[in-house]
Amino acid sequence: MQIAIVGAGNVGAMTASRVVDDNLADVVLVDIVPGLAKGKALDISDARPVFDSKAQIIGTGDYKDIKGSDIIVITAGLARKPGMSRDDLLQKNSKILTDISNQVKEYCPNSIVIVVTNPLDAMTYLVMKKTGFDPRRVIGMAGVLDSARFLNIISEKAKSVDKDKIFMMGSHGDTMVAINRSENLSKELFNQSLDRARQRGAEIVSHLKTGSAYFSPSASVFHMLKAIIKNENKTTLCASVYLQGEYGEKDLYIGVPVKLDSTGIKEVIEIDFTDEEKTAFKKSAQSIRSAISKLK
Ligand code: NAI
Ligand code: 2OP
Repeated sequence: MQIAIVGAGNVGAMTASRVVDDNLADVVLVDIVPGLAKGKALDISDARPVFDSKAQIIGTGDYKDIKGSDIIVITAGLARKPGMSRDDLLQKNSKILTDISNQVKEYCPNSIVIVVTNPLDAMTYLVMKKTGFDPRRVIGMAGVLDSARFLNIISEKAKSVDKDKIFMMGSHGDTMVAINRSENLSKELFNQSLDRARQRGAEIVSHLKTGSAYFSPSASVFHMLKAIIKNENKTTLCASVYLQGEYGEKDLYIGVPVKLDSTGIKEVIEIDFTDEEKTAFKKSAQSIRSAISKLK
């Protein structure tokens, strides 16, 4: 099993490190900055004796080296800077992802692609269209991260948190939709935590000044990779996927609960919405459609 990680910046390199440390798969790390991927790959490989890992990792600037990879993780592109929204990244990152999609199509035509680059839902849509891959093989990472942030913030004040009953759907943006099916969570704590979870990415950027979150984003990618590689079909998680009628939406990437296996999206799970959730999901879908309409 070989994973190509495109973009050896914060999220890409940290994901590579998690994969190799855990002996999950071999990794090809790619970046356009000369030497960056190679240097980080050597550094990551030096930790293999510490973790007793046999996973191979190489760093490269040449896309030919991704040939034959089973899974591609796309983290290349610009990250948010203070005051920048995810949508500000749309035009610049869509050009970068168009180029990368062409390389992936040429060298790894049967791969599963996980997109991380922002604005997440629009970029995942773009990669699916540009590669022409079956949409079940092109998946956006955001729901695992947004749900984890929400759960973590709730856990600061709650005695126990029903992990499987509280999650985030919708866009990876200001209109993300929080779902609560737990009886142990008060409406007040739910609302307070939701506001904080929606702002968490920006809160981290405001402290870091340069760059954005990468520890929890890379952990979230790693969780998805494991669900695909282990092929157990038992993990339910939220991811941005192409809807073809589910939730009353078509031709749109948006965050919903899914099951992943070695083929990619095994199943889209349709939950029953309350009226409030239904309205919030529609609004979120609309915001993604608006971003998609700006793609060239
Ligand atoms: P970063 O700036 O640390 O790394 C990006 C890397 O991409 C850089 O090393 C850059 O040289 C490389 N790159 C640019 N063009 C390339 C190309 N054509 N081929 C190969 N490499 C190329 O940024 P970071 O923090 O790793 O974030 C990456 C992206 O992921 C950003 O768009 C960010 O907003 C997004 N992100 C998304 C999250 C999500 O939940 N979906 C969470 C965190 C970040
Ligand atoms: C985050 O939510 C920047 O999308 C990234 O941290």
